[in-house]
Amino acid sequence: MAHPYEHYQRSADFIRGKLSGFTPKVALVLGSGLGFLGDRVEGAVAIPYGEIPHFQASTAPGHKGRLVFGTLAGQAVAVMQGRMHHYEGYSYEDVSYAVRVLRLLGCGTLVVTNAAGCVRTDWQAGDLMLITDQIKLFSPSPLRGENLPQFGPRFPDASHLYTPRLQQLARTVAARQGLPLREGVYFYCYGPQYETPAEVRAARTLGGDAVGMSTAPEVLVAAHCGMEVLGFTLLSNMAAGILDQPLSEQEVLDAAQAAQGRFSALVLGCLEEMGRPAGGG
Ligand code: HPA
Repeated sequence: MAHPYEHYQRSADFIRGKLSGFTPKVALVLGSGLGFLGDRVEGAVAIPYGEIPHFQASTAPGHKGRLVFGTLAGQAVAVMQGRMHHYEGYSYEDVSYAVRVLRLLGCGTLVVTNAAGCVRTDWQAGDLMLITDQIKLFSPSPLRGENLPQFGPRFPDASHLYTPRLQQLARTVAARQGLPLREGVYFYCYGPQYETPAEVRAARTLGGDAVGMSTAPEVLVAAHCGMEVLGFTLLSNMAAGILDQPLSEQEVLDAAQAAQGRFSALVLGCLEEMGRPAGGG
């Protein structure tokens, strides 16, 4: 459904009324295996999506479906615990609705995390990848329809969806932690079926390093409204056709669980680093 600007404002006003003057600076979308970080937020104010005017409630099993505001690794954050996916039946506009609301509330940065299939045969399941760019060629844009100029221009530049400065920050944090960090392009496939081996070969030919069913719509909307973006992928499994075995959700969940410690340390380390004054130690 197409939302007028007033809907975003009304959602933001409702949330602001619950935050007692708290202003979030960094919005976080937590993917598979990282949802627990939402429970680590200090001084948390949690608001279920279902209570917020014009929000679509999250229906995915195991997804909490709420916004959590508070402090995480020293940063004033807004955590989306439970993201919406297009494959659940939501429009792209609804999938990315919360990003604009969080922008209105004061967030200037979006951190996105996800689990995805590894397209590269020289990488391994379990590797972490810094997202440097994305490909979303075969599905409509969340920015389709009437443009809301309050958020951004009709034809936004997409040269640097993932903010170079934040990529550099992530490299620094990973190096300090001794954490190997791959870098690559997230190839969006809308699912819910996993890709065919032919689709994975196509993704590889087109320049994709990971294939996944989330993230790309929210990132387009965030960049449109002037937010800086940092993105990480857990390569939870080798993409279809690389190994002679079927893909399963259990494999993804197990990999997410196994990577939890490394993945959360990386994200928390980046949040902490973002809080340091520029040029400071
Ligand atoms: N393909 C798409 N989405 C995914 C995958 C995959 O192989 N693994 C986890 N999410």
